[in-house]
Amino acid sequence: MTAPKQPSMLTGAAVEIEALRQGFNRGFADYRYNMQMDPSGMLGHLHRSNIAPDDCAVLVAEEEGRLQGVGAALLAVRGDEGWCGGLSVDPAYRGGGWGRRLMEHLKRRAVERGVRRIFLEVLVSNDHARSVYRQVGFKRLRELLLWERDPRQGPLPLPYERLEETDPAQILRSFHRWHELPTIWQRRARSLLNYVEQHGCIGLTIPAKDGAPVAYVLVSAPSPYGAPAQGQPPARLRILDVAVDPEANLQDAARPLLQALQLRYVDARMTLMDQPADSRLNPVFASLGFRVFDRQYEMVVDLAENPPDTVQ
Ligand SMILES: CC(C)(COP(=O)(O)OP(=O)(O)OC[C@H]1O[C@@H](n2cnc3c(N)ncnc32)[C@H](O)[C@@H]1OP(=O)(O)O)[C@@H](O)C(=O)NCCC(=O)NCCS
Repeated sequence: MTAPKQPSMLTGAAVEIEALRQGFNRGFADYRYNMQMDPSGMLGHLHRSNIAPDDCAVLVAEEEGRLQGVGAALLAVRGDEGWCGGLSVDPAYRGGGWGRRLMEHLKRRAVERGVRRIFLEVLVSNDHARSVYRQVGFKRLRELLLWERDPRQGPLPLPYERLEETDPAQILRSFHRWHELPTIWQRRARSLLNYVEQHGCIGLTIPAKDGAPVAYVLVSAPSPYGAPAQGQPPARLRILDVAVDPEANLQDAARPLLQALQLRYVDARMTLMDQPADSRLNPVFASLGFRVFDRQYEMVVDLAENPPDTVQ
């Protein structure tokens, strides 16, 4: 095995989706969670989050005579806001300043695209990535909770309200009025609409006495679903979004919604990512047996206060 050669960074039109995917996967190979993407998974990520390949950067290196993607940085753009949809450097190339250079490129590209602020999320325990983000000017905005409920905790009590299946596009019309706090990029209405367009999802509401919905949840269709085979982990039911009408009583609306959801998917492990730590829904999750399995920080860089380095 020959020693790896010094990598170089490709940007703009030179960025190929396959190299981007390879660089992403190799840098995330030792990550705490499985982030490996197949070609359709990568296309889905780009589309859902509004990431154009020519806004991204790929780190490439010649290995055994072939050019390989060994790192990546992904920039999503919507109007004057941007989001970092992934930063990764293969373990063999870490500690050489490439993470920082990839992020500086994203900042330069963001300025070219008229972006004023770039957001991202990072695990609280990811000291190395946090140090890179701090060095390029990102500041901590707020804390986010990752919730899960294990089906082995048993079923929740049967509520007397019934879940109603509702068209996700119709549900999302209440998105802005029902979310009292801003949501992270991948849980914004635009990302959710993109997701629904790509994969579809299941929309469920709890109606009040007059029949109008007072709370909704959007979940990804679980596959495969059913009681897990002996020794197998339970299927995962991803809660993509959940919100309550601010005029409704929180307990009366959110509790039966989540109880009925759990009973409908009684064998599934339910997860909800990146709920703001100051969300008023958190005590409801905790009281129904959900637990926080990880935490992230949402970070932001203001590009007027922290302009990109001009030296490339
Ligand atoms: C985060 C990551 C991209 C950084 O890549 P990198 O090329 O090693 O980054 P750099 O070499 O530019 O490091 C920049 C700074 O990080 C810090 N750093 C380096 N190694 C570190 C370590 N092991 N622990 C903590 N901080 C470290 C240093 O302060 C360094 O600055 P310095 O060079 O002035 O000392 C890489 O570790 C990675 O791919 N991790 C797995 C995927 C991931 O976690 N991505 C982020 C998800 S939000």
